[in-house]
Amino acid sequence: MKETFYRFDTPCRICLLADIHDRPFAEITASIDKRSPDIIAVAGDFIYAHAPHDDTPVMSKAKNALDMLYACAMRAPTFVSLGNHEWMLSETDKSMIRKTGVTLLDNEWTEHSGMFIAGLTSSGVSAYAAFRKGKSEVYPEWNHFNSPQRSEPLVDWLDGFEKQPGFKLLMSHHPEYYPKYLKNRAVSLVLSGHAHGGQIRLFGRGLYAPGQGILPRYTSGRYGKMIVSRGLSNTAEPIPRLFNRREIVYILPKQKADK
Ligand SMILES: [Fe+2]
Repeated sequence: MKETFYRFDTPCRICLLADIHDRPFAEITASIDKRSPDIIAVAGDFIYAHAPHDDTPVMSKAKNALDMLYACAMRAPTFVSLGNHEWMLSETDKSMIRKTGVTLLDNEWTEHSGMFIAGLTSSGVSAYAAFRKGKSEVYPEWNHFNSPQRSEPLVDWLDGFEKQPGFKLLMSHHPEYYPKYLKNRAVSLVLSGHAHGGQIRLFGRGLYAPGQGILPRYTSGRYGKMIVSRGLSNTAEPIPRLFNRREIVYILPKQKADK
């Protein structure tokens, strides 16, 4: 795992965790202990998706995710948004997540120390929630999540978020939402993951990312006001990550010399 640092016009030190996928997290917390961020942003896919075969809460099947969220919340205020792998979370699961001490932001925002922090939920999560509540008869198949043409994220609530004063941090698991839904919004910083760096990186580019296809544009680094993490695990097994180390990202305030 590598640590990547960005300087940005932010009022605090932010740690970005994406795509942990229920992995053991000792090296993540060791890094956090070393870097002491002011807040932690978990930008989706903290568990690994399983189709629900019964009513057992999905979070109780996860081996590490709840402990990981608790460990984060013990270290710094932690804000969590939902990625495509969280598609089957029930209200019980969400309650279990909140009990770890994190703030769960499911298409909503909160205020923290004078800034505003929001989480844009993966479109497939919202589609599945609508199906589960009987608001939609369309069962969202897995390819819903990585096909923006088939389901759209719920973005109307962002109208209110972008009117808030000061620094506005938006977690959006899917970086491919940026050009269509986020780029022209009055938000300060967008934090994403999902692309896993394009899985195999050659000549500074990723080869494939779900939702973006071959030679994806948004896989790693900064794109305008969006920063994309390469993620902290590998879910595209048996395809290995190649030339593409797992990554923990820190966004630090600009130093006076940077301005
Ligand atoms: Fe994802």
